Amino acid sequence: MTNLPTSSPLRLGVNIDHVATIRNARGGMHPDPVRAALIAAAAGANGITAHLREDRRHISDNDIARLMQELALPLNLEMAATDEMLAIALNHKPHAVCIVPERREELTTEGGLDAAAQHNHLAPYVRELVDAGMRVSLFVNPDKVQLAVAKALGAQVVELHTGAYCDALIDQDAEAAAHELRRLQAAAREGADMGLEMHAGHGITFEGVTAIAAIPELVELNIGHFLIGEAIFGGLDSTIRRMRGLMDSARRTGNVATA
Ligand code: PXP
Repeated sequence: MTNLPTSSPLRLGVNIDHVATIRNARGGMHPDPVRAALIAAAAGANGITAHLREDRRHISDNDIARLMQELALPLNLEMAATDEMLAIALNHKPHAVCIVPERREELTTEGGLDAAAQHNHLAPYVRELVDAGMRVSLFVNPDKVQLAVAKALGAQVVELHTGAYCDALIDQDAEAAAHELRRLQAAAREGADMGLEMHAGHGITFEGVTAIAAIPELVELNIGHFLIGEAIFGGLDSTIRRMRGLMDSARRTGNVATA
């Protein structure tokens, strides 16, 4: 255990995609992701995240319109770098846009963007979104080259993909978890040194959140699937409050398990 000075606040963005997944299993309106967003706001979320996928498997265009109208919290729209999504973002102008890689056949966002390989494709999207006043984030693996490219592209924010760390915890592979945590810690430091605002997300659970929340350079975590799944057992309000509490206490004490 090391103690780090982690007193700066850490925002929680609640990803409500999988409320829409359940709704869409039957069609109709229930459960309503906008209602979930309002509960999340009351439970201590600082923002709402929603991924409008090309195949609309969960969040719909109407959900985005309603979130923009009915929500007081900032909306972070996750989207692929396509002309269709750019037009939607420019139409709604959410507070933030996080550009993610997207393949139709994947179950979830399985890895970060290869911003280095896609530099020329991403450049006009980042530029248009930034010029229209949105805060633009790129979802990347914890890799210095990706951070440097995100910075060069003009993104103000980078979200680090925490999936490899969280998977290692599920696999109970302590060595891999320690390795992945070190990668996240190093990338958060490197990105902050480059002047990027550092976020993180993907696969975060009650078990995984403490070490991630203790990384002092991180200012926002985006958490979805676990919160919505756990809410089946504990209720959405108390599940979010518990996650918020774990984040806050990790931030206060700076207790981070390192190998
Ligand atoms: N951040 C980004 C950029 C994502 O694409 C996702 C969902 O894939 C999340 C955070 C939330 O991940 P999870 O649902 O696993 O908590």
